[in-house]
Amino acid sequence: MTDSRQIAGVSAAWEDNAHDWLEWARTPDQDRFYWHFNLPAFARIVPPPGKRTLDLGCGEGRVGRWLAEQGHTVAGIDSSPTLAESAREAGGYDEVVCGDAAALPWPDNEFDAAVAFMTLHDMPRMQQAIREVARVLQPGSPFAVAIVHPLNRPAANLDDYFTEHRVDEEVERRGLRMTFVGLDRPLEAYTGALCDAGFVIEQLLEPCPDAAALERAPELAIATRRPFFLHLRCRLTG
Ligand SMILES: C[S@@+](CC[C@H](N)C(=O)[O-])C[C@H]1O[C@@H](n2cnc3c(N)ncnc32)[C@H](O)[C@@H]1O
Repeated sequence: MTDSRQIAGVSAAWEDNAHDWLEWARTPDQDRFYWHFNLPAFARIVPPPGKRTLDLGCGEGRVGRWLAEQGHTVAGIDSSPTLAESAREAGGYDEVVCGDAAALPWPDNEFDAAVAFMTLHDMPRMQQAIREVARVLQPGSPFAVAIVHPLNRPAANLDDYFTEHRVDEEVERRGLRMTFVGLDRPLEAYTGALCDAGFVIEQLLEPCPDAAALERAPELAIATRRPFFLHLRCRLTG
């Protein structure tokens, strides 16, 4: 079930908040959930470098720059013109396109790996975006996904778990503000879309911060008590 009146504008909100996101993502050690917890956990399911890796919803490009450091040749796509341009300017990618993940501009079989880091829950046409990833991947290719855990949501949305809800969450940390706009969906929306598009889910992980991460960023303790992020290691069949 979907409340379509609320869903409109979710992708566009990222352009509206692009300058706040740039400051949030690029201020050193600001996004500690990313640097000390989510990225190190995600790194465990990221495929090794191959020919060309797709970064779906690349934002200002921090994941692509990290992938490039690991030896990947990376192409990114993001629907926010400001963020796509920022990713292009900062380097690390061999190509950055501003566009909708639900209509990828590349031919079939263009990539041999793909990642979607913290972005599928921001895409109103998530199922179509996953079908597009399947189309541009070569058969047998890996696809690594990170999303907000479907149980990490306001209590009111848990009481209405199977309805898709728009969430606007304003967060303030260390003097910076960011409004995170996304969609709460049931877990099966993602696993169903992946399987329908021809992916098998090889691993489903609910990462917890380790002792070293907690020492560096004590505020991560909240993620030792309740589900925070969900990581899926998938592979395209065929
Ligand atoms: C939470 S940010 C993550 C960005 C990046 N992956 C990172 O972790 O730094 C979500 C991104 O998804 C992008 N996005 C939302 N809807 C999109 C769509 N339909 N097509 C492509 N990108 C989209 C937003 O513009 C935003 O940059």
